[in-house]
Amino acid sequence: MGFHFTPLLLTLLLFSTLHSRSSSQTFKCNTPTTCHSLIDYISPNATTFSHIKTLFSVKNIHSILAANNLPLSTLPNSTIPASQPIKISFPCMCINNTGHSNKQPIYTVQKDDGLSHIAAEVFSGLVTYQEIAAVNNIPDVNLIKVGQKLWIPLPCNCDDVDGVKVVHYGHVVEAGSSLELIAQEYGTSTDTLVKLNGVNDSSLLAGQVLDVPLQACNSSVSSDSVDYPLLVPNKTYFFTANNCVKCKCDAANNWTLQCDASGIKPSNWSTCPAMQCEGGLLSIDNSTTSGCNITTCAYAGFSKNQSIFTTLATRSICPVTAAPGNYASRTGLSWNYLFISLHLILLLVYLL
Ligand SMILES: *[C@@H]1O[C@H](CO)[C@@H](O)[C@H](O)[C@H]1NC(C)=O
Ligand SMILES: *[C@@H]1O[C@H](CO)[C@@H](O)[C@H](O)[C@H]1NC(C)=O
Ligand SMILES: *[C@@H]1O[C@H](CO)[C@@H](O)[C@H](O)[C@H]1NC(C)=O
Ligand SMILES: *[C@@H]1O[C@H](CO)[C@@H](O)[C@H](O)[C@H]1NC(C)=O
Ligand SMILES: *[C@@H]1O[C@H](CO)[C@@H](O)[C@H](O)[C@H]1NC(C)=O
Ligand SMILES: *[C@@H]1O[C@H](CO)[C@@H](O)[C@H](O)[C@H]1NC(C)=O
Ligand SMILES: *[C@@H]1O[C@H](CO)[C@@H](O)[C@H](O)[C@H]1NC(C)=O
Ligand SMILES: *[C@@H]1O[C@H](CO)[C@@H](O)[C@H](O)[C@H]1NC(C)=O
Ligand SMILES: *[C@@H]1O[C@H](CO)[C@@H](O)[C@H](O)[C@H]1NC(C)=O
Ligand SMILES: *[C@@H]1O[C@H](CO)[C@@H](O)[C@H](O)[C@H]1NC(C)=O
Ligand SMILES: *[C@@H]1O[C@H](CO)[C@@H](O)[C@H](O)[C@H]1NC(C)=O
Repeated sequence: MGFHFTPLLLTLLLFSTLHSRSSSQTFKCNTPTTCHSLIDYISPNATTFSHIKTLFSVKNIHSILAANNLPLSTLPNSTIPASQPIKISFPCMCINNTGHSNKQPIYTVQKDDGLSHIAAEVFSGLVTYQEIAAVNNIPDVNLIKVGQKLWIPLPCNCDDVDGVKVVHYGHVVEAGSSLELIAQEYGTSTDTLVKLNGVNDSSLLAGQVLDVPLQACNSSVSSDSVDYPLLVPNKTYFFTANNCVKCKCDAANNWTLQCDASGIKPSNWSTCPAMQCEGGLLSIDNSTTSGCNITTCAYAGFSKNQSIFTTLATRSICPVTAAPGNYASRTGLSWNYLFISLHLILLLVYLL
């Protein structure tokens, strides 16, 4: 009834899926909204970033490198070894309690393709052929035409978990793994995985896509920004503000999002605005230290009208003499951001 792949059997089973039933890989969701999600793609053969970019209709290879914390200098044609999981970042939409990639990837049917081949082999079982047929309104799964464009509905989710905004990651379960190991690796709990996925260790199958919620770094992005809430999980980076800004998250940096000018070509603006706080005294991501206060010029969002927001965020590393039991008194640190000002920078040169 379900996938039960071991690496050795994987290839054999892939060729027999035509007549076998596949379990659904759909994620349930409650909040009808859109967001960004991640999913593992595990190619059975060696592949390249260019190939993955095309397969998943990703606009920019940068976004794949960012989701995998790989250097921006990685060449598009570099080889990715067989069976190496690569995280794909994609837009997600929750409708009718089901989370699906938002009208992408788009796959063009090739000669000799069948729906089940596309689902099980081309997209390595991340979807079932029934799901592809359903979202594309295909009445007869044996009738698809060469050149036909198909929306591949990848599983995803936008729900908060325990009241916290998270990034949902579709993790492909490896043979021999367990809920506890997965929870440990991705900083969540077995209970959360059980609740989100309705699984337990005895029902967990290799090849299954598990909804794993990832904690994101705290950011200074304001609620009226186009990219609010900007959620970047541990050990990944993300391009925002039409690629002008690059934000990275590292749990080791106390879950504080760090954003600076990306240095890459903007995607929708002709040029990136100068990103400075308070009349140019500080550039984005620069800090000044005054006594034991550290003031950073932080990214605070963008608007469609060619503007990028910045804010001065001050954190104190002064020893605190507070009541016992207080977090700050135990660590000798307080990590509270004080928003001194919200400063709007206009893109003056966008007409160039
Ligand atoms: C992997 O390689 C084999 C043999 O080279 C080929 O038959 C198969 O179609 C390839 N699979 C994918 C998904 O490219
Ligand atoms: C990858 O592309 C670069 C130029 O973009 C080229 O110099 C190099 O030979 C290519 N490598 C392979 C393995 O195709
Ligand atoms: C959502 O469900 C309703 C009722 O079941 C249905 O009419 C509608 O087409 C569904 N919408 C989508 C996008 O599937
Ligand atoms: C963050 O990611 C690193 C590298 O993957 C990992 O070692 C660390 O445990 C993660 N931290 C948390 C809190 O998830
Ligand atoms: C695990 O889940 C399966 C299917 O949902 C169920 O039949 C089984 O009783 C569960 N096992 C345990 C130990 O909870
Ligand atoms: C940062 O986020 C963590 C959890 O996501 C939260 O516990 C902490 O209070 C946040 N810190 C600040 C300064 O917002
Ligand atoms: C994060 O906080 C810990 C203690 O809470 C502190 O030791 C560490 O220096 C902080 N890291 C940074 C980068 O400020
Ligand atoms: C690009 O800018 C145009 C005009 O400002 C806008 O209509 C469009 O939605 C933008 N596209 C993206 C991807 O932001
Ligand atoms: C701010 O950062 C820029 C480069 O990003 C650097 O050239 C400049 O010296 C920094 N300014 C301060 C005050 O640190
Ligand atoms: C640090 O900031 C606090 C307010 O957060 C202020 O009361 C204090 O005077 C500042 N200390 C220094 C040395 O600037
Ligand atoms: C751009 O939008 C922001 C809010 O989104 C607003 O405060 C600002 O005045 C606008 N600027 C222009 C030039 O319209």
